[in-house]
Amino acid sequence: MQKKGNRYGVHRVLEPEGVLPQPALRLDNDFSEIYDNEILCDVATLNIDAASFLDIKDRAGNDPEKVARIIIDIVNRYGKHQNPRTGSGGMFIGEVTRIGAALKGRIDLKEGDRIASLVSLSLIPLRIDDILAIHMDKDQVDIKGQAVLFESGVWSKLPEDLPERLALAVLDVAGAPAQMDRLVRRGDTVAVIGARGKAGLLCCYQAKQKAGPKGRVIAVVHREDGKADVENAPFVDEVIVEQADRALDLFEKMVQATEGRLCNIVVSCVSREDCEMGAILIAKDLGKVYFFSMATSFTKAALGAEGIGKDVEMIIGNGYCAGHADLALDIMRQSTYLRDLYIKRYC
Ligand SMILES: NC(=O)c1ccc[n+]([C@@H]2O[C@H](COP(=O)([O-])OP(=O)(O)OC[C@H]3O[C@@H](n4cnc5c(N)ncnc54)[C@H](OP(=O)(O)O)[C@@H]3O)[C@@H](O)[C@H]2O)c1
Repeated sequence: MQKKGNRYGVHRVLEPEGVLPQPALRLDNDFSEIYDNEILCDVATLNIDAASFLDIKDRAGNDPEKVARIIIDIVNRYGKHQNPRTGSGGMFIGEVTRIGAALKGRIDLKEGDRIASLVSLSLIPLRIDDILAIHMDKDQVDIKGQAVLFESGVWSKLPEDLPERLALAVLDVAGAPAQMDRLVRRGDTVAVIGARGKAGLLCCYQAKQKAGPKGRVIAVVHREDGKADVENAPFVDEVIVEQADRALDLFEKMVQATEGRLCNIVVSCVSREDCEMGAILIAKDLGKVYFFSMATSFTKAALGAEGIGKDVEMIIGNGYCAGHADLALDIMRQSTYLRDLYIKRYC
């Protein structure tokens, strides 16, 4: 008889008692017995959140062996992959091996199905038995290990028509283009900061779909190296090369590009800190700034906007949004440009 689990997975929290798994410090990752509302998976690959992976690589001096040691240390300590320095996790793909009795027949999933977690690794009990490969440029780590998803956890069956690594990469940031879909109106000027990244290009694509031919999508990249990826994209109208953390320089370039009108919507998809003020400055008064970046500081954004008297609506990037997985995967089916580029980068 399996033990009855809590819908949100509180039964796996070891420390501190009574909090939800995401803010918890330590989770129970002993899967010898699962609770009645859990889905046990053999994990194949982790997609580590970009801000977290960058931090781990920085700490490891870009040495893959040290990266592996840091990842194992995090999981051994906390029972989950939550980088204590960024607070963020990532997601995984793997195969369902057991489904708790209370869920069987209630969900469209069976043992043997291959799935991607759509909730963050920062709340998923995880055990790593071995690290098989570290893909330094893809933010991906192949492992031998197991994880459980709770009843409230969101997941997606892996599509059969797209490579798994591509799906993993895209699903990790699926919340970003889905919010573009909601926020952008026809004719809007949209700035995407960190535009060359995984989330950034998806945002550019969806923003253009919504803004239409009279709208403008302005991609902000920080170096000439990555410029071609956005410059060649058929859904980007203009490219600005500037460091997102050099707020005033970025502002000057945006004033020039928009003849002073600035942007209706700004989305920050940067993996580095201190990019709040640039994003706020380049939005119009009463415009919207969507902070998808995990390196965003609430304090810097809130006090920074107040400090310059800028009346903008600021939105925290919720990784979940109804229909986000389908929308992101559909972009891969619709855009040959993005599919080819992402297969080259992430597969
Ligand atoms: N809200 C959520 O639920 C959620 C979910 C997943 C991820 N995220 C966050 O979303 C952000 C983007 O993720 P991703 O996977 O798209 O990462 P990514 O592919 O690494 O993209 C980040 C981009 O930021 C660019 N960048 C770095 N420093 C910059 C600077 N100073 N100025 C301008 N651009 C700069 C990078 O440029 P280069 O390409 O030239 O290096 C890269 O293109 C990360 O912060 C990640 O943690 C949030």
